[in-house]
This record gives sequence, C-alpha cells and structure tokens, in this order.
Amino acid sequence: MRRRLAMPYKEGILKREDLFITSKLWCSDHNPTDVIKALDRSIERLQCDYIDLYLIHWLVAFKKDALGFAPENFAPLDIKATWAAMEQCYESGKARAIGISNFSVEKTKDLLSHCKVRPAVNQVECHPHWQQKKLVPYLTSEDIHFSAYSPIGSSNSSFAKINVLQLPIITTLAEKYQKTPSRIALRWNVQQGHSVLPKSTHADRLATNIELFDFEISKEDLHEFDNIEQHRLLSGEGTFVNDTTSPHKTVEQLWDGDL
Ligand SMILES: NC(=O)c1ccc[n+]([C@@H]2O[C@H](COP(=O)([O-])OP(=O)(O)OC[C@H]3O[C@@H](n4cnc5c(N)ncnc54)[C@H](OP(=O)(O)O)[C@@H]3O)[C@@H](O)[C@H]2O)c1
Repeated sequence: MRRRLAMPYKEGILKREDLFITSKLWCSDHNPTDVIKALDRSIERLQCDYIDLYLIHWLVAFKKDALGFAPENFAPLDIKATWAAMEQCYESGKARAIGISNFSVEKTKDLLSHCKVRPAVNQVECHPHWQQKKLVPYLTSEDIHFSAYSPIGSSNSSFAKINVLQLPIITTLAEKYQKTPSRIALRWNVQQGHSVLPKSTHADRLATNIELFDFEISKEDLHEFDNIEQHRLLSGEGTFVNDTTSPHKTVEQLWDGDL
C-alpha cells in the first residue's frame, strides 16, 4: 500500500497557494479515459483540490499498467485524443494549466496545429552542456514557457557521461563569484529566463540550490557558455526508442534530428 505523504499545507506549515505543484501524465495513461483518472490519482495522493500544471511526460504510449520499456509494452499513440483529454483536465479546473515535456520543435508545432488549449510549458533537459539552442527561440516565439529539468546535469545519474559541475567554465565562475558550481549552473539557466527543477536528496543542498537571486553572472561571462560543447544526456536510447513498437525508431526521430 502507498504511504500517505505528509503535506506541508495539511500540517499548517504553509498554504496550498504558496506552492506551485506540477504533475505529469505517465505513458501508460495516454488512453483518453485514463488521463483524467490519472490526474485524480495525483490530486488524491497530493491531498489537494487542484494542481497548478499537468504535463504529458513523453510522446510515447504504453499499454495500461505496463512496467518498464520492453518493446511489448508500447502501444499506439493518438496524441490528438490524449491532448483533448488534457484539455478536459484544464476545463475541469483540476489542472490550472496544461503542458508538455520532451517535445521537440517539430512535435510542438504538430500539437499547436490541432490544439484548442495551447500548452503553457514545455519541460525539457537543459543545462550548460545541453542548452537547447534550437528549442529555446522557438518556444519563446510561441510564448510557451521553457522549464529546465536536469538543470545541474543530473550529476549522479548513469546517463550523465560528463559532469556539468566540473566543466572548467563552471568551476572558474564558482571561484570568481564565490558560489557553489551548482548555483552557477542554475543561475545560468535562470538568466536565460527558464524555470529550473533541481533535485537533491540532501537538505543542505536543497537549501543552497534555491539561493539564486543574490548574484548575477555578467554578460561577458554568459558569453563564455556559448563555447561549451553540446550533448544531450537523456537521449531516450534504451528507453523510449526502439525499432519496432515505439513511434520513435531512432534517437534522431525522437528529437527530430536536434541532437
Ligand atoms: N520531464 C522529464 O522527462 C524529466 C526527466 C528527468 C528529470 N526530470 C525532473 O527534473 C528533476 C531534476 O532532474 P535530475 O535529478 O535528473 O537532475 P539534476 O537536478 O540536474 O541533478 C540531480 C543530481 O545532482 C546532485 N546535486 C544536487 N544538488 C547538488 C549540489 N548542490 N552539489 C552537488 N550535487 C548536487 C544530486 O545528488 P544528491 O541527491 O546526492 O544531492 C543528484 O544526483 C527531477 O526531480 C525530475 O522531476 C524530468
């Protein structure tokens, strides 16, 4: 049985409206009748009446209750039907905004061609080592907010072949501004206008990672980030990509060549 989480707004530590809560639709709930049920489950677990933002996690569908990325778990995807159900979530007031995650420029364009309610946000990988140079100007031109996941380079994950926090530009600026490398990486993201979603299992890191608004990286120093070699960490290889049942047969197809 699932453990009931202690929610700060239930314990009187803060008010519900002090938090911005995002949840995501997992791939096994793409069936339109499952979309709102999945949202209801999230709301129930979070012990609140609404969430602020609900996202389609990946443009991939799995069979109901499928676990893992085995080819037999993939199911046909009807993004128009899924998005129409997301729009119902929005219209119900249970999700105050709806959006997408891991959508390339092409995939976002396709969604915009048929949606009634436009996605408010696209949540994607972004850090100094993968700056999303193609997606950022496109989302800006469409007035879709850019939200950065893995903003410090997911430093301990098996996907991270390069440690962003050890890039020379990051360690040099950490020394210069007398801030931790993670705050330099996060501050770079914030100065691009992105929201950032850093994760830590350490309370002290959570506390310092949020201290981003007492300094600014100079324009000259920001230019130095333009020279960093670019690589995605989370390519989807071995997970969302397979050459038989996935709608994305190759990594190139998943990201529409933006690699
Ligand atoms: N939409 C998507 O498909 C998607 C995909 C991936 C992630 N995300 C979201 O993005 C969030 C963050 O992503 P992420 O965990 O991949 O990457 P991240 O936040 O860039 O990196 C997390 C790693 O950095 C370490 N870390 C945190 N603060 C640090 C500090 N001050 N100094 C040194 N190391 C530090 C953490 O270790 P410790 O725990 O040991 O501190 C953890 O290993 C997740 O919570 C998730 O919600 C979304």
